[in-house]
Amino acid sequence: MAKRAKPVQNAPMQAASPPTDAAPPVSRPDAAAIEAVLLCLADGDGARAEAMLRALALRHPADGDVLNLSGIAAHLQGRPDDAVRLTEAAVAADPQSGVFHANLGAALAAAGRPAEAVAALERSLQLRPGHAPTRRNLGLALAQLGRGAQALPMLYHARELAPDDAETHLALARCLREAGSREAAAESARAALARSPAPALAEEARFLMADSPGSAPPRQAPGAYVRLLFDAYAPTFDRHLREQLAYRTPEALVQALAAAGALADAGADVLDLGCGTGLSGQVLKPFARSITGIDLSPRMLEKAAASGVYSRLVEAELPQCLDAEAAGSFDLAFGADVMIYLGAVEPVFSRLARVVRPGGLSALSFERLSAAADQPAAAMEVSDQLRFRHHPDAVRAGALASGWTPLLLEDATLRLERGRPVGGFVLVMRRG
Ligand SMILES: C[S@@+](CC[C@H](N)C(=O)[O-])C[C@H]1O[C@@H](n2cnc3c(N)ncnc32)[C@H](O)[C@@H]1O
Repeated sequence: MAKRAKPVQNAPMQAASPPTDAAPPVSRPDAAAIEAVLLCLADGDGARAEAMLRALALRHPADGDVLNLSGIAAHLQGRPDDAVRLTEAAVAADPQSGVFHANLGAALAAAGRPAEAVAALERSLQLRPGHAPTRRNLGLALAQLGRGAQALPMLYHARELAPDDAETHLALARCLREAGSREAAAESARAALARSPAPALAEEARFLMADSPGSAPPRQAPGAYVRLLFDAYAPTFDRHLREQLAYRTPEALVQALAAAGALADAGADVLDLGCGTGLSGQVLKPFARSITGIDLSPRMLEKAAASGVYSRLVEAELPQCLDAEAAGSFDLAFGADVMIYLGAVEPVFSRLARVVRPGGLSALSFERLSAAADQPAAAMEVSDQLRFRHHPDAVRAGALASGWTPLLLEDATLRLERGRPVGGFVLVMRRG
């Protein structure tokens, strides 16, 4: 699984190169206008910054600073591909600018192109070896490529350079958790929390402290974390899951429905929970009259929309968004590989019981608690990969308590992870 993308750093402007005697004077954008753009960007107002930059670009279309800042503005508005195109043009305008290479690297990472991001960030560090945010972003991109052994020293170095940067502590926490060092990860998460009150960062830090003594177990993965993770993953998701991770969970769920004798008739209204790019939509199509997809990642939803399979797509966070759906709207609620981000089952099951018609069905996949942690008392845990694993008994009990009758609960291999099968189970249940 990919890890989260990094935000484009809002790096300070490079000083403009003075014109030489031999060259004709180069017209530069007005410093006050650039200053005004920087203020907008610092406030997170990408739309206003972009409008100002458009006006500047009319007179200075090839100016590196204008292009670089336009890239940051595009990124702030959730258009990573535009951010890449613009920062690439900035780099072409001034290949010696460490700032431009750094922003290109961050844009590439956000666009789901971590290998190219690593190259751009390494080039930036050659030009500015002491720049801590670039080092942090390089650590994150290496981790995204599964190169944790190189990511960790990079992040330790970034922390040395900027000991008070909360994002660096958080990045380190993520990487340490992935490496299986839960205590050190929790310590880094605590350090991040102590340095920034930003809600999204705090939520993720608390998630990374899961299982540490005195911490309340999280009920679901933080939305901001999941959105960044899947927005960056979207461009490569289908190919990576199908070709490298042997992912067949949507098919396994359809088989489970058939095995339970509960395959919905053609003509079913289906709800696809965490629909992602729409892999489930493809297998549900033969049975469905309508398919509604819910997901919180805009870039995953773009892919789902392009598949043409969905009648309606909703960008929202589960399970709360189910409260906005009319009662009894669906015949089947289908969730492939999404309960791994929604820990507590009852808030999900009880909401599904409201939106699914009496006698309707739900089919969901789960990662199974590992053997070592498989104690009768433990209902779920958060894995080193920050996904929830559930105990089948707890899931069955949660179904019964929320108005569902389990029809089938059986083991399934969900996908591969580092070449090894990930053990899970599928659940088919009927409402009432
Ligand atoms: C591993 S992908 C599976 C996608 C799809 N179901 C499939 O089988 O290909 C998990 C999806 O769930 C979405 N997701 C995770 N947590 C969510 C939440 N709280 N609300 C909405 N969507 C969520 C993610 O954005 C992602 O697209």
